[in-house]
Amino acid sequence: MKHTQKKIVVVGTGYVGLPAALMWAKAGHAVVGVDINENVVRAINEGVMHINENELRELMADPVVKKNLSARTSPCEGDVFVVAVPTPVDHARKTADLAFVESAVESFCPFVKRGNLVIIESTIPPRTCRDVVAPIIEKHTGMTVPGDIMLAHCPERILPGDIFREIVENDRLIGGMDDASTEAAAQVYASFVTGALHRTDDISAELSKLMENTYRDVNIALANELAAICENLGADPRKVIGFANKHPRVRILNPGIGVGGHCIPVDPWFLREIAPYDSRLISTARLINDEVPLRVAGKIRRAVRDIASPRIVLLGATYKRDCEDQRESPAHEVAAQLERDGYDFAHHDPLVSGKEYASLVEIAKGADLIAVLVPHSRMVEELRAQDAAIRAAMRTPRIEYYEK
Ligand SMILES: NC(=O)c1ccc[n+]([C@@H]2O[C@H](COP(=O)([O-])OP(=O)(O)OC[C@H]3O[C@@H](n4cnc5c(N)ncnc54)[C@H](O)[C@@H]3O)[C@@H](O)[C@H]2O)c1
Repeated sequence: MKHTQKKIVVVGTGYVGLPAALMWAKAGHAVVGVDINENVVRAINEGVMHINENELRELMADPVVKKNLSARTSPCEGDVFVVAVPTPVDHARKTADLAFVESAVESFCPFVKRGNLVIIESTIPPRTCRDVVAPIIEKHTGMTVPGDIMLAHCPERILPGDIFREIVENDRLIGGMDDASTEAAAQVYASFVTGALHRTDDISAELSKLMENTYRDVNIALANELAAICENLGADPRKVIGFANKHPRVRILNPGIGVGGHCIPVDPWFLREIAPYDSRLISTARLINDEVPLRVAGKIRRAVRDIASPRIVLLGATYKRDCEDQRESPAHEVAAQLERDGYDFAHHDPLVSGKEYASLVEIAKGADLIAVLVPHSRMVEELRAQDAAIRAAMRTPRIEYYEK
């Protein structure tokens, strides 16, 4: 099917905005990426990919994309405005910090014309489209939303590391404030999405997106709670979970060192913010998962308690294995606990620059404990292959895996 070509202004060209901008440019739309970060804008205009994904790098070099995509630091006129800026959690209040969304929307209001479509891809608390975004546009343009201007929430579900495939193949929620908004937004995504486009309203889309990550968080909390129960009883949580999962309708996840990344530990708070009383399980799960790094630090302390001036090596700093992303990483929380208590420790990660990593035998020299916090495949292979040499280099040959 041939889609009408549009001018699409993507505000925020990070992990979420840039891949979408590339896809729309490849599909033949004229795309302007807008970012307040000058380095990001320069990189896009020079055809340099600032996100570490090979297929996206290739797409960036595609002649059609080069022709259709440009970047700038301030918005301009367009047919469609897509907002993909950060929505962090305010750590003290556990509520969404919508400052980026508000300023992004304000920034393109002077260029919005009747009949334009605004799409919010950023993850937002329920009712943000109608209680925050629509009023800002109405105030600054004097037009009605929806009506004069269409507005939809189309949340993103991509997994960093596999963005290129997921952005195309994943099903997508298209939540318009009215039918016209939903239909217009669906057409924009139909130009590159092969997954199903599920048409709904803005509040349902906002809620569904948050519930996806909340579902994961609550299930991880259940696994972590089980691990704590097992520990007190001297049982092996992996065995217990394995047996329970033999039930045809049970699938308990594996316990870990906590929950990281900038989605799963954040999104549940956006539900609590809007419905504090009705989200008690969700809030408790969040607290359970936030507590896990403290428990891990406790286990490390106990592992070295009989050693005078113990030297500890922490391995893995990212929020999950085999990725480079350190955002909200529980491994950092473990390190912070040990630092607070004055332990002598070093923290290494082969995937993170600045966490210098030579060879594990070198790193292990004189250590009393190697605590594997994030078991990156490459690191675990090296640990296994060099086991004897690593233990020989240690003062006390003890290696513990805290994420199973
Ligand atoms: N990364 C993911 O895997 C993922 C998945 C699903 C949803 N999300 C959500 O998508 C949204 C964006 O996340 P991200 O990972 O792309 O963030 P990011 O930090 O990678 O990129 C956001 C970009 O927005 C820019 N920016 C901030 N304020 C701006 C403004 N006023 N005008 C123009 N640019 C501005 C920043 O400079 C940055 O380059 C968040 O709400 C996030 O929760 C992310």
